[in-house]
Amino acid sequence: MIETSRLTLRIGTLADAGPMLILNSDPEVVRYTGDAMLFSLQESESVIRERIIPQWNNYKMGRFTTLLKDGTYIGWCGLRFFPESNEVDLGYRFMKKFWGQGFATEASQATLKYGFETLKLDRIVAKAMPDNIGSIKVMQKLGMSYQGYVSDPTEPHPFVVYHMLRKDFKP
Ligand SMILES: CC(C)(COP(=O)(O)OP(=O)(O)OC[C@H]1O[C@@H](n2cnc3c(N)ncnc32)[C@H](O)[C@@H]1OP(=O)(O)O)[C@@H](O)C(=O)NCCC(=O)NCCS
Repeated sequence: MIETSRLTLRIGTLADAGPMLILNSDPEVVRYTGDAMLFSLQESESVIRERIIPQWNNYKMGRFTTLLKDGTYIGWCGLRFFPESNEVDLGYRFMKKFWGQGFATEASQATLKYGFETLKLDRIVAKAMPDNIGSIKVMQKLGMSYQGYVSDPTEPHPFVVYHMLRKDFKP
């Protein structure tokens, strides 16, 4: 569990399926994620069971369920390991009513600290669709550096890549 000044980040569990369904059934929230909307509790439970929990079990890292101090679920933020590229990705997704209050930046800063200081990772990447200005702003506010624009026909959509190296992380 990680505490920041306004947030609690904890490992996701099946109990998050309900709020995660609300999060992922909002078309504006999933618009730039490349993920499909969720329509049922069963689908939400499957994502947690098949994607989120195995990340924690296999790689000791994953997406953190993110809560306000009073326990209100606001979304998730965290790391994901992609074995095919050997990359660790920073990601975040919050309910719309909590956008624009600095929560993604606050949760991501704590996640980068966890990645670099606890897991001793050398590099963390973050990727976003070019139109996802809010997400790109978060990467820039974190001090991540621009690596390039990828438009590859084998990818479902173009994206920009930012990264941070452990030596450049400022807690
Ligand atoms: C992307 C997302 C996580 C950002 O969360 P957030 O808590 O609002 O982020 P922050 O408040 O920390 O920072 C967002 C910044 O982008 C700015 N911003 C957001 N949308 C913007 C837009 N369309 N144009 C310009 N700036 C924008 C905000 O003003 C803020 O900058 P500021 O602090 O200088 O004012 C949130 O919008 C979200 O959950 N989106 C849906 C899921 C998603 O797209 N995830 C990322 C996939 S790569």
